[in-house]
Amino acid sequence: MHITLYRKYRPSTFEEVAGETDIIKTIKNSLKGNKMAHAYLFTGPRGVGKTTTARLIAKGLNCIENGVTDTPCNRCENCIDISKNKFIDLIEIDAASNRGIDEIRSLKDKINYQPSKGRKKVYIIDEVHMLTKEAFNALLKTLEEPPSHVIFILATTEPDKILETIISRCQRYDFKPINLKESVAHLLMIAKSEGIEVDDSSLRLIYEKSGGSMRDAISIFEKVISSCYDEDITLEKTEKILGVIPEKKLSEFLEIVSKNNVVSGITFLDNLWNDSINVEEFLKSFAYYLKELIIKKKSPFNITKSIAIIEDIFEVMGKFRYEEDKRILGYVILHKITEFEEDIKVTYEQPIKEKIVEKIIYVEKESSEEISEKLKEVSKVKEKIVDITIEDVRANWNDIVNEAKKRKMPLISFLSTATPTKIEDKILHIGFYAENRFHKESMEKPYYNDIFLGVLKDKFKGKVIVKYDLLNEKNKIVEDKTDFVERVVDFFDGELI
Ligand SMILES: Nc1ncnc2c1ncn2[C@@H]1O[C@H](COP(=O)(O)OP(=O)(O)OP(=O)(O)O)[C@@H](O)[C@H]1O
Ligand SMILES: [Mg+2]
Ligand SMILES: [Zn+2]
Repeated sequence: MHITLYRKYRPSTFEEVAGETDIIKTIKNSLKGNKMAHAYLFTGPRGVGKTTTARLIAKGLNCIENGVTDTPCNRCENCIDISKNKFIDLIEIDAASNRGIDEIRSLKDKINYQPSKGRKKVYIIDEVHMLTKEAFNALLKTLEEPPSHVIFILATTEPDKILETIISRCQRYDFKPINLKESVAHLLMIAKSEGIEVDDSSLRLIYEKSGGSMRDAISIFEKVISSCYDEDITLEKTEKILGVIPEKKLSEFLEIVSKNNVVSGITFLDNLWNDSINVEEFLKSFAYYLKELIIKKKSPFNITKSIAIIEDIFEVMGKFRYEEDKRILGYVILHKITEFEEDIKVTYEQPIKEKIVEKIIYVEKESSEEISEKLKEVSKVKEKIVDITIEDVRANWNDIVNEAKKRKMPLISFLSTATPTKIEDKILHIGFYAENRFHKESMEKPYYNDIFLGVLKDKFKGKVIVKYDLLNEKNKIVEDKTDFVERVVDFFDGELI
């Protein structure tokens, strides 16, 4: 039969309990001096050893071979029965279940019977905060004057829900989350006795995922073991099995950000995407990673800047929650968290009406005739569209791209794969190959498009209308069949007229 590891390795002696050293020491002393209280309250998070310790107390009180002891023998009938969880004088009640409530009600009658096989009857009441008021009262009565052959151990993850009258009748011990060192040592012990090779950083990662619960740490470890078959366990494998972002990637991104290297940042994010790493998950992990560095005083930024970065990440993530292409999120965050030597504000403002018309133009993807019809209408309400040739654009292309970059960093990445192809009916066509569709789609977003149009306007001293196309391998414009643009307009609260 397959036994889960955390059952197999439930501590059978006090020495095997990880952490909780003060509690264990006090309890051991009480057992040694045979001075146990008649009621205990164990509080603390899940899976840190409350039930385990309670069962060890039962052993210590009932060991046949060693008497009342802090070192139960684990060989006598009582010790073995307790280990197998079938000792008749150890009664575990789960207060969260209906049966548990009935059991509490009938406690009063049964409690007076002497233990049948041991010295003391041990009642463990788990999740005691779940008791109904009525059951609480019943319990309170028994706690007031329990017979000397009985000891109660109440356990709870939510001590705040327990009546003061109950707490005051118990000796209280607050169990703590297991710390890194204790957890790793315990997992190493398990690894050793299972004959498994595992590196330290894997165990560290497992600890982080466990949130300080020993039970969870063991369960996670078991998952890793079973996915590694007979191979040694390495950090790389563990990261993969647990689906966590490799720390190497996080530190790489941190370096990029700290050097304000936006262009490598964009390449980095594109690579994540190509490696099928969820960009949103990555950015979230990055925020946590940075938090850890702040705590360890190892962040390359000062505290204000570090926290501002974390704030920016969560803010942008919230804003772009519904964006499907999470790279956008990455770009925007990158732009926010890096600093530029020249952070030129975009001063160019378009009249509202023009904006709407532009939107119509690229949103509806009309034929050129339809567009020029619309343009005629537009020209009535706005300044003249400048007369330029494609040669003018080509001759100035480097300047235009550089200026765009100054105004908004990500534009350099989008435009670096763009080619001005022609001017037709006064519309400047800018082409992208299919593999750079994302750049085209980014340029179509009103936010970036507006900035780019501003650059063109300043360069050519007048209005330029732009259409972004997809190109095939032969540099021919092909029809773009996505509905991305509409999605984007929706996203930016644009209106389709
Ligand atoms: N301090 C610990 N040292 C070693 N193992 C532990 C410890 N705490 C928990 N474990 C492991 O986790 C398992 C569950 O622990 P236990 O039942 O004692 O947790 P608990 O604190 O009672 O949790 P819950 O609140 O969920 O009842 C044990 O069988 C053991 O393998
Ligand atoms: Mg428990
Ligand atoms: Zn024994």
